[in-house]
Amino acid sequence: MAKKLFIRTYGCQMNVYDSGRMADVLAPLGYTVADTPDAADMVIINTCHIREHASEKVYSELGRLRMLKLAKAEQGQDLVIAVAGCVAQAEGEEILARAPYVDIVLGPQTYHRLPEMVARAARAGATGGGVLDTDFPAEPKFDQLPDAVAHGPSAFVSVQEGCDKFCTYCVVPYTRGAEYSRPAASVLDEARRLVEGGVVELTLLGQNVNGYHGDGPDGRGWSLGRLIRAVAELPGLQRIRYTTSHPRDMDDELIAAHGEVDKLMPFLHLPVQSGSDRILAAMNRQHGAADYLRLIERLRKARPDLALSSDFIVGFPGETDADFEATRQLIREVGFAQAYSFKYSSRPGTPASAMEAHLSEAVKEARLTDLHHLIGGQAVAFNQTCVGRSLDVLLERRGRHDGQLIGRSPYMQSVFVSAPESMMNTVQRLTVVAAHANSLAAVLAEERACA
Ligand code: SAH
Ligand code: SF4
Ligand code: F3S
Repeated sequence: MAKKLFIRTYGCQMNVYDSGRMADVLAPLGYTVADTPDAADMVIINTCHIREHASEKVYSELGRLRMLKLAKAEQGQDLVIAVAGCVAQAEGEEILARAPYVDIVLGPQTYHRLPEMVARAARAGATGGGVLDTDFPAEPKFDQLPDAVAHGPSAFVSVQEGCDKFCTYCVVPYTRGAEYSRPAASVLDEARRLVEGGVVELTLLGQNVNGYHGDGPDGRGWSLGRLIRAVAELPGLQRIRYTTSHPRDMDDELIAAHGEVDKLMPFLHLPVQSGSDRILAAMNRQHGAADYLRLIERLRKARPDLALSSDFIVGFPGETDADFEATRQLIREVGFAQAYSFKYSSRPGTPASAMEAHLSEAVKEARLTDLHHLIGGQAVAFNQTCVGRSLDVLLERRGRHDGQLIGRSPYMQSVFVSAPESMMNTVQRLTVVAAHANSLAAVLAEERACA
């Protein structure tokens, strides 16, 4: 029977990938994707636990779904509610206790078992009691998942999961478990299928993607650099990206790939979190500010036009004005094309949450605003350097105006252009005519040449 599934996704690209795979897993049961929860027979909330604000959203969202479930019940319809992702992993029991109308709670490592959970939930339906599955199974889920399906010109491929780095503020090692690298053959298989389905841009994903050390088809351990070279050989594929990296795992082979693999895009998201050695040590990042700057220098030597992005945490316990100034200094020295900054959020069970000298909300807020200005200014400056240049843009969305398409530059900027619909899902050479804070305006390159 045709049934409708609605998935709401919070958090990182890993969750975006997982949501797509959950839809793939449920497709054989007759589920197709709905645009709204109202139109759905099953709703999955794929949650994020990284900051307090992110995990709080879950319960307000569940409150709304409860009302919808009651309304549907009055009309004799059922609504299956599932909570997936990192909050589910961290607080599975608590979710079922606080929101007993939830039918299924599942972690990021068990969604290949969703069909079985749906059947169990249906049996349990009459008697109540939700299904909970937050195991870390020994068998990797990738072997059990159906083939990934291409939706549009761009796709994610998960190559590495979990994290063994244990940064002192972070919940990911607890919610996602130990590092696991998918065998290269399995990655290449999925990549090939996606490219055959029309994908021209692949983003290799992992919590620590450059820590990748999967089994290669040649019997050796492959690094991410090696894997990127193999993926680059897929005919039809035009662009490769990877995220998220850790500075400690940026090895020679990967740095060399930035200079030698044309399909590897000149953009790198490399979180550093802080520019203060004292804070970096307290965060257990296992490198100093100077190490990061040296690494950037080597990367830029390999690929001079490399655009950089990063993550910063402000207001880590014990962060002084001088520590914060060191972060500002690092940002000034690197010059980022874009970057994200977050107020430190104390997460239950992490070592940092037990540290002394937590900062006030006011100090965190002031430092966040300060970094937003600094980073925003750098983003504008970077966008301005693109005016007058010709860039290859992957056109992947319709704009708000008639005849307008939106795409992404090699450097991850959003680019707006008036272009025929036939160019949708293709890479086009555009000439940038104006820069804004968060986007570029461009014209088709040949149009410019004729004018
Ligand atoms: N594995 C990736 C992504 C981790 S989560 C990495 O190592 O970069 C994404 C970002 O969230 C982190 O880079 C960090 O800047 C931020 N973050 C993680 N835990 C946080 C916390 N407790 N408070 C505030 N920001 C946090
Ligand atoms: Fe979290 Fe650090 Fe692992 Fe990134 S490297 S997921 S910040 S513990
Ligand atoms: Fe959030 Fe889990 Fe990703 S905590 S950032 S969804 S790994």
